[in-house]
Amino acid sequence: MVIFGAGGDLTRRELIPSLFELHRKQLLPERWAIVGFSHGSWNSTMFQEEMRRAVEESCGSAASWDSFAARLSFIGGDATSGDDYALLAAEIARVQAAFAIPDNLMFHLAVPASLFGPIAERLGASGLATSEHGWRRLVVEKPFGADRESARALDQQLRRVFAEDQIYRIDHFLGKETVQNMLAFRFANPSFEPVWNRNYIDHVQITVAEDIGIGTRANFYEQTGILRDMVQNHLLQLLCITAIDPPVHFDGASLRNETVKVLEAVSVVPVDLGGGAARGQYAAGQVDGVTVPGYRDEADVPADSTTATFAAIKLTLDNWRWADVPFYLRTGKRMARKLTEVAIHFKPTPHLMFPGAADGPRHRSVLVFELQPDEGIEQTLAAKEPGPDLTLSSVKMKFRYAEAFGVEEPPRAYAWLLLDVMQGDQTLFARADWIDKAWQIIDPIVERWASEPPSNFPNYAAGSQGPPSADELMRRDGRRWRDL
Ligand code: BG6
Repeated sequence: MVIFGAGGDLTRRELIPSLFELHRKQLLPERWAIVGFSHGSWNSTMFQEEMRRAVEESCGSAASWDSFAARLSFIGGDATSGDDYALLAAEIARVQAAFAIPDNLMFHLAVPASLFGPIAERLGASGLATSEHGWRRLVVEKPFGADRESARALDQQLRRVFAEDQIYRIDHFLGKETVQNMLAFRFANPSFEPVWNRNYIDHVQITVAEDIGIGTRANFYEQTGILRDMVQNHLLQLLCITAIDPPVHFDGASLRNETVKVLEAVSVVPVDLGGGAARGQYAAGQVDGVTVPGYRDEADVPADSTTATFAAIKLTLDNWRWADVPFYLRTGKRMARKLTEVAIHFKPTPHLMFPGAADGPRHRSVLVFELQPDEGIEQTLAAKEPGPDLTLSSVKMKFRYAEAFGVEEPPRAYAWLLLDVMQGDQTLFARADWIDKAWQIIDPIVERWASEPPSNFPNYAAGSQGPPSADELMRRDGRRWRDL
């Protein structure tokens, strides 16, 4: 495996800790090595030391580190300079010979998106992208492009060197156990599918709330904003997993064909800020009892930035299963707490026979897939309260991942995805046509928001439930967001 951007944040936080986890679980192939490539003056020993620290920070301990570190090496170079690829090629040849590794290479681009195309081209020109004896795979991070046009251009650039079945577009949400568990629950149990449609479901709320702010990523975030960073990929993937029709097989072609159909069914895109969309930017506030600065006071953020850190949008799908069922998507930084969930709100029963109950508010059954931090599934049901009268109240039926499987922490999403790349399984990676459709949905919102600069930013306090306009969006439909 060759990691471009080996000195960067993603390599420290996710890639190396995930590969180390695979190593500890003995899931890596028998013969392997990792070559880090990045500008900078590290040598392999310094790289190994840095990565040991990263693993200690992220995994708590680095037991059995030495056998892992022995397979890590580093080449300092400029990813845009053709000459440096000769150094890289020599290092790859060296480790392949030293560890008797077959001629299979995965290139992971943990670099700014502007470098994806140039790196692919240079890999092609240097001969590293082809082999007569083994495979070549390219892994790219999100967001893939900045809009539909640039994503198409990038795709063409990559496709001059790599075929679609060699390109792995990562969306780490798809590697999360609980996201895959949504598929297992829906399609391995007979009770969900019959009610999974407009006849029984009133609406769906998809929430990806974060308590963290922008940290040191201002430069990236100012370019990207919440729509490109979270909605175009993670939230639309969650929408697809929720709304998908049963695929015939769990494989790259079947699952991805069905997720593309979900995006195709999104008809009207809510660009109108007074209608189906709301945006926000956090002001200073308190998160977990700690006072935190507003977005405009974060390092490297301009004092008049209009970048949105919160988005809520209402989508509807024009197909037989979902016509007229709204899907409300919301995501934001610096909200009250970290919570990722998909909540399916069922319609009330058509008739309530219990005396008195019919006059009160109808019980609403909600099925919640909590993806983090407390992974599990919860269903609210109506139950009779103990006592002489037949009084109904809401109770919860819960499945907690940690309890059921005795796992304290679910495995890292990246670990599973990297393993899938090694095994040549593209099921959980975004295909080019999915990316294209996703931009088709997001582009009009980005454009509209850019054409109407917000006059009320910042408009929600850090540590809150988000801006009032998001509540208003729901109120107009006679609904409310679930509390964070
Ligand atoms: C990343 C975004 O893709 O996902 C970040 O770039 C965000 O801005 C992160 O914080 C959230 O991932 P997770 O796994 O912590 O929910």
